[in-house]
Amino acid sequence: MCGDRCLHLVKSTLHHLYLPVWGWSDSDKKKQLEAATSRFVIAFAPNSSLPEKQPHAGSDCSEAPPFIARPLLEDGQVPVAMVNYRFEAGYTGEPALYLYELVVDPAYQRLGLASHLVRLTEAMAWSSAMDAIILTEFVDNKAAAALYRRLGFTLDKASPRGKGYEILSKHRPKGKGSDKKS
Ligand SMILES: CC(C)(COP(=O)(O)OP(=O)(O)OC[C@H]1O[C@@H](n2cnc3c(N)ncnc32)[C@H](O)[C@@H]1OP(=O)(O)O)[C@@H](O)C(=O)NCCC(=O)NCCS
Repeated sequence: MCGDRCLHLVKSTLHHLYLPVWGWSDSDKKKQLEAATSRFVIAFAPNSSLPEKQPHAGSDCSEAPPFIARPLLEDGQVPVAMVNYRFEAGYTGEPALYLYELVVDPAYQRLGLASHLVRLTEAMAWSSAMDAIILTEFVDNKAAAALYRRLGFTLDKASPRGKGYEILSKHRPKGKGSDKKS
């Protein structure tokens, strides 16, 4: 559905954060995005509404690449924001929605797009009887930390220390989704 365009959006916004912690492989990331269980919500914009190159404005990390180069596409649609998630069993066996990637093109940041995508993901999780939403964030990613804290995510008890990344989670509020009646 989104293919190389989504890979490009993920790589151009996250490559510099992945490198020092897990490294980066185009083929591994492509495999992750194209896995049969992978699900997406994607916001597209027409090519014409975007400059071909845009100063990187999305991260507090000093290693951020200075520019994002966008391929010009024949069908005129460019993904500008995307959430990639899966329904999986959590580490204690509970049904969970794993949020794999959340990225917004720098030209579209600070407009509430990421918050909107996370809220949509949440609504899908609770209405699909998931008990939790689980995600991993890089400790150097101040923008993501501010966003997720603001949306009610907290440090998960399984989160490692000193690894350059941490696990955040949010649990289904009582009364949402499939709470069993006592
Ligand atoms: C993190 C990211 C997804 C945020 O997307 P966004 O659409 O700009 O986020 P929102 O507009 O919904 O921001 C909501 C709140 O999050 C916080 N926030 C977002 N970006 C921030 C930044 N660069 N610095 C500090 N706080 C930030 C703010 O509290 C913001 O509210 P405000 O704009 O009213 O101050 C985006 O910066 C991005 O794609 N970064 C690169 C990829 C990445 O880090 N992904 C997340 C980890 S997988």
